[in-house]
Amino acid sequence: MCGIVGYWGRRNAGSILLQAIRNLEYRGYDSVGICTSNGEILAIRKDKGKVEEVNGRHSLHEMTGNIGIAHTRWATTGKVTKKNAHPHTDCTKSIAVVHNGIIENYERIRERLRAKGHAFQSETDTETIAHLLEENIHLGIGQAMISVAKELEGRNAFVALFGNEGVIAGVRKGSPLIVGVGGEEYFVASDIPAFLEHTKKVMYIDDGQMVVINNGIHFFDIDSQKSVEKRIVEIVLDMKQAEKGDYEHFLIKEIMEQKETLFRAINQDEDEIRKFAEEINQAFGVFFIGAGTAGRVGLMGEYIFSKIAKKHVNFVLASEFPSYEHFLTSKTLLIPISQSGETADVMKAVEVAKKKGVKVVSIINVKGSTLDRISDHSFLVNSGIEKSVASTKATTGQLAIVFLLAYACAGRLEEGKRLLIDTASEVNDMLNPRYEAHIKRLAKKIGRRDHIYIIGRGLNYPVALEAAIKITEVSCIHAEGFAGGELKHYSIALISDGVPCIAFVANDETMADMLNNAAEVKARGGYIIGVSPEKHEIFDYWLKVPDVGNTSPIVNIIPGQMLAYHLGLERGMDIDYCRNLAKSVTVL
Ligand code: AGP
Ligand code: GLU
Repeated sequence: MCGIVGYWGRRNAGSILLQAIRNLEYRGYDSVGICTSNGEILAIRKDKGKVEEVNGRHSLHEMTGNIGIAHTRWATTGKVTKKNAHPHTDCTKSIAVVHNGIIENYERIRERLRAKGHAFQSETDTETIAHLLEENIHLGIGQAMISVAKELEGRNAFVALFGNEGVIAGVRKGSPLIVGVGGEEYFVASDIPAFLEHTKKVMYIDDGQMVVINNGIHFFDIDSQKSVEKRIVEIVLDMKQAEKGDYEHFLIKEIMEQKETLFRAINQDEDEIRKFAEEINQAFGVFFIGAGTAGRVGLMGEYIFSKIAKKHVNFVLASEFPSYEHFLTSKTLLIPISQSGETADVMKAVEVAKKKGVKVVSIINVKGSTLDRISDHSFLVNSGIEKSVASTKATTGQLAIVFLLAYACAGRLEEGKRLLIDTASEVNDMLNPRYEAHIKRLAKKIGRRDHIYIIGRGLNYPVALEAAIKITEVSCIHAEGFAGGELKHYSIALISDGVPCIAFVANDETMADMLNNAAEVKARGGYIIGVSPEKHEIFDYWLKVPDVGNTSPIVNIIPGQMLAYHLGLERGMDIDYCRNLAKSVTVL
């Protein structure tokens, strides 16, 4: 994870980089650092803590110089300490580096460099890059970057600042890196929000390429060492999307935005949906993959395709997918689902699939993301920038596209689209202050509990798992989802007086069994929170959801999101920056 950014231009690098890492903070928030250069001298200020805390202590905005690099960390190698915060430097303190990724062979490199006399200041893998660059700098910056990039194993991106030369250079080898082009200035960053307020012109660095910025900008292929031509692409992203506006947190803003984001997701090119549905129908083996919440959408896909298209598709967690490689042929279809389009587990799965000649068609929120660019085709969710670590509006958007595909496979796209539009209108109605207040009251009641159990069946089993993800990450309460029927096999042992149990009771063929499962919990003292269109006697607290039929997972997801938010508030959590997590998980 980690957010990295470099600035080369005429303006004051300190304040520009500070704002850039504020905008990248969703990628990691253990520690922060900036290095700027004015002529030959490198100034570095870094510390542990979030951007505002570190800026409060070290006045990062005051750092002078016209070029610089900055970092916001999600530690993988070395504890969260000031010493381990990036940037890291070589022995001469003239080369500084910020890095995103894990260098799998860093121990071997470090031993070799130590034997040559290099003194290491931190426990990180990153610092080896700075010393390796020092070893190779006699070759010139371009060659030094290439040979270091070639030596690193694992998925990495790094940006180096060469103080003596006034040059910034970046390598992309498995982790994202993108260039922003302004008037007489350049940015090189993990993601577009880093520089969006300065420019909407970007140049995409492909994997296995690097960039060198001095008075101009030059791209190279790392393997062939040849220079590559790039064109400038104008992106359509509104900075306002990345602001909280009148909301206290991004999470609640993004939950509320589902009033309209769902409509945007439904509005897909129907020909493309039909064309792909036909391919799904013809394929020999269809796999949805994803991680975390996107993975739960993939699992929902299995149920949705079974129920609506009467078609067997598979879901596999992206991180587990490589174990399935022996099932893959050129007739297999892979459907990765991802908000960011940068999740390393997903990328690795795609690489495995591509080697077997599998066609990859993704469902993604971030246009131009790595996954978008390496997929044979992408369906874009169009939810706009999602900043809170907990995914909400992208999730319901992804789900809508899965429904469209399933209905199209069944030859009923029109019907599916109508149903989805009605569902989106229902979601619009649900997201009102009265509904939120009702959920807030529930959060007050159960906010001090240590455990929450969540059950669902059929289409709503994955919804139970998703609600558990939201509650766990936002409130840090242990929340666990189960299939309603599975409870009696073991987890019912955990139910005692007052333990909250959320039961998703859809108005479908699973209703009677779900009510039985809720009764089994209640008989053992459990406090039943029913999420359903109708009130059932067994509920201690009822969260009404509209009766939309097959698309019930979409409306059922909403109360879980809102409850997670209010439980998080109740417990004083850092809502948008969930503990130990990051928005974009670019390590395996
Ligand atoms: C969602 O609330 C989580 N923060 C997380 O599980 C997320 O869904 C997962 O990391 C996958 O991310 P992606 O959708 O960007 O691939
Ligand atoms: N490995 C580096 C560190 O631990 C970067 C981590 C990352 O990108 O997540 O600092």
